[in-house]
This record gives sequence, C-alpha cells and structure tokens, in this order.
Amino acid sequence: MSRRYLVTSALPYSNGRLHVGHIAGAYLPADTYVRYLRARGHEVRYICGSDDNGVAIEIAALRQKRLPQDISRYFHHRQKADFAGLGIEFDVYGGTHQPGYQAMHERFSQEFFRRIHDQGYFRKLRTKQLYDPTAERFLPDRYVRGKCHHCGAGGATGDHCDACGQLIDPLLLIDPVSEISGAKPVVRETTHWHLSLQKFERPLQEWLESKRGQWRPNVLNFALGQIRQGLPERSMTRDIQWGIPVPLDDPEARGKVLFVWFDAPIGYISFTAQLCQDSEGDWQAYRRWWCEPDTDIVHFIGEDNTVFHALIWPAMLMADGRHQLPAAVVANNFVNIRSGTGDQKVSKSQTSEDSPVWIEEYLKRGLDPDALRYYLTATAPETARTTFDPREFVQRSNGEL
Ligand code: MF3
Ligand code: ZN
Repeated sequence: MSRRYLVTSALPYSNGRLHVGHIAGAYLPADTYVRYLRARGHEVRYICGSDDNGVAIEIAALRQKRLPQDISRYFHHRQKADFAGLGIEFDVYGGTHQPGYQAMHERFSQEFFRRIHDQGYFRKLRTKQLYDPTAERFLPDRYVRGKCHHCGAGGATGDHCDACGQLIDPLLLIDPVSEISGAKPVVRETTHWHLSLQKFERPLQEWLESKRGQWRPNVLNFALGQIRQGLPERSMTRDIQWGIPVPLDDPEARGKVLFVWFDAPIGYISFTAQLCQDSEGDWQAYRRWWCEPDTDIVHFIGEDNTVFHALIWPAMLMADGRHQLPAAVVANNFVNIRSGTGDQKVSKSQTSEDSPVWIEEYLKRGLDPDALRYYLTATAPETARTTFDPREFVQRSNGEL
C-alpha cells in the first residue's frame, strides 16, 4: 500500500563548504532512502535547505569582515550546487534567511515561539552569562571554547562537547576563552526564555520507548540516557543581532533573537509550506505532510545533532501541539579522513583546500559522482565512525564498481 513520507536532511550551516563527512551522514543515506521509497510507489517529499541564522554564520562573517547575509547567500549557493552535482535530489532547498523562504520561515518560527510561550512552557529567567569585556558583548555558547566539564577534553564549545557528545554549561567550561577577542570572559546577568524540558521527560521517554526495535539503538540509548540524567531547562533566546527577533511585547525581549536551534528545525516545516505555495499555490497544504498521521516524517542527521532531533525538537512539537512527531530519527556517525599522519576530522584548518574530500573540488576534477556515492554507501558510518581513505576509494571504485 502506498503511503506518504516526508524525509528531511539536517540543514547545513551556510558558513562553509561541504565535505564527504556531511554527505555520508545526513544526505546520501536520505537521498538513497527517498529513491527507494519512490521506486516502491510511495508519495515522498524530500526537504532541505540552509541553516542561515545564529552564531555560526555571525562568527564567520565577523572573521571574514563581511555581512552575515552575504556569507549565508554565498555558501547557500555553493552548497546547493554541491548537492546537485552529487545527484542529491531535494524537492525543495530552502534557507532560513534566503530570499523566497525567509518571510515564511520567520512567520512560522515566531508563531511557534508565541504558542509555546502562551501555553506556559517557557520560563523567563535572569541568568548569568559569559561576557567579553574587550569586544563589549555577551558571548553566545558557540563563541566560547574551553575544556569539557564532563570529560575534560579540550576544544569544547560553550554548548557541546564533540569528544563525549554531551551538552555543555558554558559557565562550567574549564579555562574559557572568547572566540572573538581571545579575552578571558567575565560573568554578567541577562534575561532569557527557557524551554521547560523537564516537563517533557515523561512523554518523551514513553514516546522513545515505543520506538525500541524500530529505531537505531544509538539514537534511543543516547536520548533515553539524557532523560535518565534529567533534562535541563534550555534557553531558546540569544543576545546576538543575526537571527529572528523574539516576538514578545516585553521590553526585555528587545534586541534579542531566537536561538538558532529553535528556528532551524522549524525550517523543515516552513520550507514544506513554501514548496506547497510555489508548486500548488497553497501554503496551507503543508498540513497534509505535517499534521496528518498518514504521513511518516523521517529526519536524517549527523551524530552531533541527536540531542536536538530526538529530544528538544520533539519537545517543541509537543509544546506547540499542532504537528506530528517524527516517525524516525536516523543518526549517522562522523567520517574521518585517512592521511599520512593518521585519521583526522575534515576541517578547514587541517584539510588542504584543494583536497577532493571537499565536494566542490571532487566535482571540479570531473570525478564521477556515482563512484563517491558507492564508496560512501559501502563504508557508511551507521553504527560507528568510519574512515575515508583516498587510496581505498580508488581501489574499491576500480575493483568493485
Ligand atoms: N546546522 C546544523 C548543523 O550543521 C543542523 C541543523 S538541523 C535543523 O549541525 F534541524 F536544525 F535544521
Ligand atoms: Zn566532553
């Protein structure tokens, strides 16, 4: 029997180039799944677009002495071309701050925020926050780096530790340093709206338990483990300039924007609405995909996005109350790169600029997209991190494909 599926891939930040790790985790498996569903005769919409708001883009703009809108416009188009070059076929590639999508996205995001607010799921709190005395501004979580207060690893940002995958309390970060000026941050007070995640512990747990045997254990075990430790209240507003204004008639909300992880997943919905508007002249047709239980919603993500898609986003959906919860959250691990000196993360600083692990470089050399799709599928990081080994790639491509 034919069903409806709405498949999403995590929205990439429009602040840099895409590499094989991105593709192997959140995009290629989703594209393959979508092709499979279509071949089986199901009705499918495959949704993606750029994550344009928030500090990741603001910080890139600051470093390159350009405007955030210019940075996000530029990388949005480059990333979109990369996906097309690899044959990844979205039904819509929107952008949370791109022309043609921004207005719809802002409307949906502010409505979500107001509804969650009006139903009493936010707590307005005066909190202490790190402040950069040199740059004279509050430091959002991502602008601070230091050692993880869970595992002690270096290089943790104020919101997340890549080494142990846990959430970070920026005030507990060990030896914090401002990413903007290099100064040692001081603590100051500010007001923010916090989502009362603890109110959703029970419903989230019941919902996740009901997925046992269907979802990958990596996602379930991680999310249930977090609930067992207790979910902390999380601030859903920020003291930065680049983003969606907090839609409250409250003098203390002035000059603040929504936390990017609040508005970004709403992009899955607002891009669907824009697609419905542009293809059938009726944005409200998005409800067919998001509100009716005969559609399955499936999110494909990288491992670092698990906490947001398996806990915070479902809590937001429960608090808002109008949409379905995801039928599945599929997380893949990272892919490292084999190089002369061992296995490394792909990164701007460690990976040479013209390396073909950057999708743009790969395509520029006229290499076959299917060879890369084959290798990344054969070595897919479904249960553990895997390594992209250029030599093995060539061997397997020639020998097997
Ligand atoms: N931009 C985020 C990242 O690259 C992913 C956002 S996914 C969304 O890690 F759901 F929030 F859109
Ligand atoms: Zn850690």
